[in-house]
Amino acid sequence: MLKRVNRVALIGTGSVGSSYAFALLNQGITEELVLIDLNKDKAEGDAMDLNHGLPFAPSRTKIWYGDYQDCGEADLVVITAGANQKPGETRLDLVEKNTKIFKGIVEAIMASGFDGIILVATNPVDILTYAVWKFSGLPKERVIGSGTILDTARFRFLLGDYFDVDTRNVHAYIIGEHGDTELPVWSHADIAGTSISEWTKNKDGYNQEDLNQIFLNVRDAAYHIIERKGATYYGIAMGLVRLTKAILENENSVLTVSAYLEGDYGQHDIYIGVPAVVNRKGIRQIVELDLNEEEKAKFTNSVQVLKKTMEPVFKNIEL
Ligand SMILES: NC(=O)c1ccc[n+]([C@@H]2O[C@H](COP(=O)([O-])OP(=O)(O)OC[C@H]3O[C@@H](n4cnc5c(N)ncnc54)[C@H](O)[C@@H]3O)[C@@H](O)[C@H]2O)c1
Repeated sequence: MLKRVNRVALIGTGSVGSSYAFALLNQGITEELVLIDLNKDKAEGDAMDLNHGLPFAPSRTKIWYGDYQDCGEADLVVITAGANQKPGETRLDLVEKNTKIFKGIVEAIMASGFDGIILVATNPVDILTYAVWKFSGLPKERVIGSGTILDTARFRFLLGDYFDVDTRNVHAYIIGEHGDTELPVWSHADIAGTSISEWTKNKDGYNQEDLNQIFLNVRDAAYHIIERKGATYYGIAMGLVRLTKAILENENSVLTVSAYLEGDYGQHDIYIGVPAVVNRKGIRQIVELDLNEEEKAKFTNSVQVLKKTMEPVFKNIEL
């Protein structure tokens, strides 16, 4: 039997979208990739440019620039369209602008007959993922936000660097809002099954201040990068490719995504960053970490900040 062809539709071929397309092609993860953008010239130019790399790619990917009709046959739609953060702007400042843009985008996707999974990266990602879920009418497990996948990657990279251990052997999560109220789950951070406190015990050269600073560098990484080069895109692009692979290859991988909570972590009616098992059907299950009291309080605060920001915006938009 012929293997089914996977199609990914990418909406938004700006810095994040085009970096994602480039990384996806280089890893040979999908057979078809359609690029859609308000700026048709940019999408068409990207399709041409990426196609010219095909002789060097690990496998054949059919890439073209298209329109929303092409989403009808897609397994996965990835949305990276919308305004990005300007220097000094928080992710939450983008909420009203991007929610309005998203209403039009999601209506056009659904009008194509699309019945797959939507992955959102545009900021503020937790709120926009909630908006996509509402606008699309898709089941909650098939609407996923990139959440804190990038923050978790930054955390693992910096911890690996600090302890001089391969980052892939560092297991630690950033959860909560992808933004200023996110938090590190120190109580479950480990290196190869050894807790960080155990790892640092009776060893010189490590201290709590350094660990605190590592988290601050994670939380503020986007600001630091935007100050220097105007935008961040390679890290998130690779995170989106990782998620695409977990979905299309039915991996059941644990990744920190923005998922809908219905009582998990004691929270309701919110999309927020938590570890979850991801597969071909979307979010199979949320992994509920046993947080300590301080972590619980911080997570609750993160939920409250998101809800407070969402309320006035969604009041003015028909969901
Ligand atoms: N989730 C994360 O971890 C993460 C990380 C980095 C950036 N981001 C976010 O990703 C988003 C994109 O960032 P960027 O740097 O690529 O921005 P960009 O300005 O380079 O690209 C945005 C693209 O969206 C397109 N667009 C705008 N409105 C559209 C519409 N209605 N329909 C179709 N296309 C439309 C634009 O033409 C442009 O090509 C931002 O919201 C940014 O904050 C998220």
